[in-house]
Amino acid sequence: MKAFEFRNPTRLIFGKGQLELLKREVPKYGKRVLLVYGGGSIKRSGLYDQVIALLHESDAEVSELAGVEPNPRLSTVHKGVELCKANHIELILAVGGGSVLDCAKAIAVGAKYDGDMWDFVERKAVPQDALPLGTVLTMAATGSEMNGGSVITNEATQEKMGWGSPLAYPAFSILDPAFTFTLPKDQTIYGMVDMMTHVLEHYFHLETNTHVQLGWCETVLRTVIETAPKLVEDLENYELRETIMYCGTMALNGFLNMGLAGDWATHNIEHAVSAVYDIPHGGGLAIIFPNWMTYNLHVKPERFKRLAVNVFNVNPEGKSDEQVGEEGIQALRDFWSSIGAPSRLADYDIGDKDIELMADKAMRFGPFGGFNKLQREDVIAIYKASL
Ligand code: NZQ
Ligand code: ZN
Repeated sequence: MKAFEFRNPTRLIFGKGQLELLKREVPKYGKRVLLVYGGGSIKRSGLYDQVIALLHESDAEVSELAGVEPNPRLSTVHKGVELCKANHIELILAVGGGSVLDCAKAIAVGAKYDGDMWDFVERKAVPQDALPLGTVLTMAATGSEMNGGSVITNEATQEKMGWGSPLAYPAFSILDPAFTFTLPKDQTIYGMVDMMTHVLEHYFHLETNTHVQLGWCETVLRTVIETAPKLVEDLENYELRETIMYCGTMALNGFLNMGLAGDWATHNIEHAVSAVYDIPHGGGLAIIFPNWMTYNLHVKPERFKRLAVNVFNVNPEGKSDEQVGEEGIQALRDFWSSIGAPSRLADYDIGDKDIELMADKAMRFGPFGGFNKLQREDVIAIYKASL
């Protein structure tokens, strides 16, 4: 393992009925709250009314930023920063999926900065301060509820990039699986693909002596694989939603990857696709991840074999590591197709016309990937295989 320090400061509040604890948490940070939410799902589900009632019971003065887009935009972050400054906001409360949470994180650091928040994304500056952030999660996918990462789209330059800071961890996150009942089937699928790829990004690493980490990753993957087919047929099943919500958080809150650096190339490659085409992140990953795997099978075939055997029950007898690995990759493709995930860029009507442009965007900070460092031509090959 690599030497490491671990700290996750988010208070995770998980389970049925936990929303009530807003009344305990909010007053810890102050009275003036900016409520941040998306395109209206929380109004339709009734969650908005519940949150507003609890905020009033907490004597909070509430300002609102509504309409955060999936793949949240920098212009919306700017609006939120203005509201924080004008209304002397003391706590940001994000209610929604990863996009709402990521936007709120960007607002939290932007509100304490004199320049443009985009400076942090471009690595021109490092956040020195942030407003506290609380979250109520409505979609299991990104892990944003318990990590310090955020992904923002600059619509003016067609760039979508991640940034992170220890200051961007939510102070508290409330996760009631019942709030995900209304999540449509397609988004439920994208969320499950996303969390699986987070685990896979950790899984493909070159560190040695990471037995526990690999085993935990396999457990999370097997659990999602077992649960997903039942959940897509039974969207309001509490136990299934609970399992998936817990998996989503564990996949990207730092617990699975202590002492190792994962790959993360596929995330970079996908972000460039959704920067140009504004497609759902999980949908893009379902298309690209298996092609990244095939492209990189040669790097460490025994890791692909281990995945195939331990997660997909591939019988290794009489086969080379590469053969077993390939069967595992096929099993992953088949699994994602079986639950209804897309498998080709063509599923989003994306052809080869913007491959060079997307490759430029992916290469923004130079060659990337912890398991295998990819050059521009590698990225182009993976896009071509994904058409
Ligand atoms: O906007 P509303 O009306 O709320 O609708 C949303 C949105 O249309 C809807 N939704 C969410 N919860 C719902 C619901 N609809 C009905 N009932 C509910 N309970 O679902 C749609 C998608 O929501 P979004 O927040 O965009 O999805 P997700 O959670 O997958 O977030 C995706 C964003 O997170 C980034 C992605 O790149 C993308 O921009 N990521 C963030 C990461 C992080 N912070 O650590 C890591 C990830 O790898 C990822 O890159
Ligand atoms: Zn992701």
